[in-house]
Amino acid sequence: MRFPRTQMIALVNQKGGCGKTTSSVAIASAFAHLGYSVCLADTDPQCNATESFGVRAESVVEGGRYTLADAYLKKRAATDIEFGFDDRFGGRLTILPGNRGLSSVPLKLESELQIAIADGEKTTLDADEMRSEQRLRLKRSLDTLRGKKDVVIIDTPPSLDFLMVSTLVAADWFIIPVFPSGYDLKGLELLMRTVTKVRERYNPELRLAGVLLGNFDKTAILDRDIHQMLKNRFGEEVVFNTTIGRSVRMRDATVRGVTIFELPEAQTQAQQFLTLIHEMINRGSKRKDQTLNPLPGEEIFGRVANG
Ligand SMILES: Nc1ncnc2c1ncn2[C@@H]1O[C@H](COP(=O)(O)OP(=O)(O)OP(=O)(O)O)[C@@H](O)[C@H]1O
Ligand SMILES: [Mg+2]
Repeated sequence: MRFPRTQMIALVNQKGGCGKTTSSVAIASAFAHLGYSVCLADTDPQCNATESFGVRAESVVEGGRYTLADAYLKKRAATDIEFGFDDRFGGRLTILPGNRGLSSVPLKLESELQIAIADGEKTTLDADEMRSEQRLRLKRSLDTLRGKKDVVIIDTPPSLDFLMVSTLVAADWFIIPVFPSGYDLKGLELLMRTVTKVRERYNPELRLAGVLLGNFDKTAILDRDIHQMLKNRFGEEVVFNTTIGRSVRMRDATVRGVTIFELPEAQTQAQQFLTLIHEMINRGSKRKDQTLNPLPGEEIFGRVANG
């Protein structure tokens, strides 16, 4: 390990199609490219992050392997679920594959709880405790990677439901990816309120690592205005200076089942993510006690929540 401790970073935004998966995969491969040990967790039933590596989600299940759904349903440790690629990323990158069945996990856990009550094993008063335990299952699973990986990146589905909340419970950091076209402040307010609740109830250490503007066209005035607007809203220090340019190479890579680090014609895009990693790490090195920059927590939450 190169970091003194494992850094778990979730990519969250309940808005669909704002670069969560693209950034998760690229950030994970960028860290691996730089020599860090990395695990990418795919909590999204769409399994886009898993498939970005050319892994068919169904083939994981057919092959008898565990998926991230088993972290929730069978309380499987991430160390039992992860698998890597012998010949890619210098063996430094593993994934916790997604599963289409992740969409029914909340329902299954709720029925587990109702059955326990109906059988008289638990009282309705125990229900809250049980729900809390269910929200902690992903954390318990991912915690088995602590001390083993430098970085764990978590891709999340476009919703604020159980899967996203349990990710925020597990993470040390979250990054909010935003596209200039879909800039939706109301959505971000709701996200921040959810984060505040998670911090109060489960994870006081959860911090915002930064807001990442992707699909960015630096020649478009609107895009530049939005970058500035985000900085005004969140603070200069919170929005990453590094932006990710708009390019068809991003989709090219996904379609071919490789990352931009494995696609020679996507080197400009890969370089942007390396710059992003340097920005994250250099922010951190200014503080002795942290590896990545802890961004100003409370006042940011207040500023966004108050609109
Ligand atoms: N920098 C970029 N330039 C051009 N297209 C991009 C860029 N980043 C992402 N895209 C494309 O935008 C679409 C949405 O991106 P992505 O899948 O990463 O978003 P998401 O937030 O994970 O979506 P969902 O909420 O459905 O999980 C994809 O087709 C992706 O290829
Ligand atoms: Mg996605």
